[in-house]
Amino acid sequence: MERKWWHGKTAYQIYPKSFCDSNGDGIGDLPGITGKLDYLQDLGIEILWLSPVYPSPLADQGYDISDYCGIDPRFGTMADMDRLLAEARARGIRVVMDLVVNHCSDEHPWFREACRDPGGKFGRWFYIRDHRPGAPLPCNWRSVFGGSVWSPLPGHPDKLYLHTFHKKQPDLNWENPEVRDEIYRMINWWLEKGVSGFRIDAIINIRKKHPFRDYPADRADGLSAIENMLAEAEGITDLLGEMADHTFRKYDAFTVGEVFHEKEADLPLFIGEHGVFSTMFDFGENVLGESPLGWYARKTVSPEDYKRACFRSQKRVENVGFLCSIIENHDEPRGVSHYLPEGVHTPAAKKLLGGLNFMLRGLPFLYQGQEIGMENLPCGSIDEVDDISARDQYQVALDAGLTPEEAVAVINRFSRDNARSPFQWDAGPNAGFTSGTPWLRVNPNYTRINLAAQRDDPDSVWRFYKRLIALRRNPVYCETIVYGAVEPYLEEQENLMAYFRRGAGQTLLVAGNFQGEAQDMALPGAVKAVLLSNLEDAALQSGVFHMAPWQFAILELA
Ligand code: GLC
Ligand code: CA
Repeated sequence: MERKWWHGKTAYQIYPKSFCDSNGDGIGDLPGITGKLDYLQDLGIEILWLSPVYPSPLADQGYDISDYCGIDPRFGTMADMDRLLAEARARGIRVVMDLVVNHCSDEHPWFREACRDPGGKFGRWFYIRDHRPGAPLPCNWRSVFGGSVWSPLPGHPDKLYLHTFHKKQPDLNWENPEVRDEIYRMINWWLEKGVSGFRIDAIINIRKKHPFRDYPADRADGLSAIENMLAEAEGITDLLGEMADHTFRKYDAFTVGEVFHEKEADLPLFIGEHGVFSTMFDFGENVLGESPLGWYARKTVSPEDYKRACFRSQKRVENVGFLCSIIENHDEPRGVSHYLPEGVHTPAAKKLLGGLNFMLRGLPFLYQGQEIGMENLPCGSIDEVDDISARDQYQVALDAGLTPEEAVAVINRFSRDNARSPFQWDAGPNAGFTSGTPWLRVNPNYTRINLAAQRDDPDSVWRFYKRLIALRRNPVYCETIVYGAVEPYLEEQENLMAYFRRGAGQTLLVAGNFQGEAQDMALPGAVKAVLLSNLEDAALQSGVFHMAPWQFAILELA
């Protein structure tokens, strides 16, 4: 496999609004991030992905962009951005922006112009259809945030426009070459400026199945999840290949796609030597238990489910390329709240989950706060919820007959606010995030879970992540950890997740006892060294590893 500059690094996602507020307005900002670069460098981070900081009405927290070449004043100025890029570079950190081009904001001048003159040039930049009041909709697709994908075009009661997400996020018409050219121009503008690449948002949605038609309804609302249409759309990688040729490939840029449910055979078209992207996220674990009915019908994920999903992903990509390993992001619950059984939030269990995920083959992507074991943000009622997706799912749950208390319990499990609460820097007011009033409440557990406390504690979750990252960079082991094959070990042993990482002349065994009871794991050979453990001792005697509850270790075999 061709070696790339990013393979051996550890990446970190920043959700700017909630990372660090430098000016007391309660909103995290670019100077706040710049002020924390020393922290990130010390942790060992070498790639930073910033969730959107472009001008935006923030209807979907920045994933609704009204100017692709600007910075929202709430996040700072372009000069702040330039400074962040320069300061990051000086610390060996590459910055990756969020590329949100399936849709823009309804407040973007392109859409405003389309509303002013739907028959003109910009009318063809979106999907606009004629519609007589009372007539059936052009198709029955359900938008990701609820309701039909069709809304009335402002100022034109006889027309509709399409939005696969919120109605403030009109879809751009990627079949129109003018749209594509303008997007490529914008991408190159950022690459020229010195960003190292992009995380590419909701990119699968750009290719629709034409002509638009109805799909079988999957809920009582008579609508059909957008995935049903997407499963039929063809040629997405042709479209993305054109984009890559005009942009990323010319700059050796790093790109990571947000791709769900790609067709099995398409994987080599997406990643690897001839792929359109450098890599994409492994969502194999995240989608476990999902239901077309909505969040309320989601099943809980067992350790066995988790293990099998990880191994399935590893198997799929082993001869193709690299995925990015994640346990959470800004759209997901906190990994420790999602994958560890309820009530199990001990540092040992958090380290086990982090270690098992981090040591897989792929690019580890930490999400801000993961390194200190941040947990879901509790909410007492729907009034406290900011996330538009959670608000929709609350209604979906009520419509399905759940009581308001039950619906709030669903939101507590899956709301995107869970991962969006302010970073917990210290035990001071507002967890050290802001001197003002935070835009979203701080998790009340911040007095217990915060960076300052963990930096001083040699056994903290943070220290453990720091050691994991250091191990990945250690010249003695990096070859095996970055490129070595993954081979499951004792896969059938329940609640044991173990795998070999095999490099040239070196074998590591990564093992976790994914349960609250002790269990023994037979050792496949002599152990040369314990490289990392989440508990003080690793009881390795005569061919057996007597694993304590939630014990995790990385062993080097002789
Ligand atoms: C992606 C983003 C999510 C956003 C959606 C629409 O899934 O990660 O936060 O709401 O796209 O842009
Ligand atoms: Ca601020």
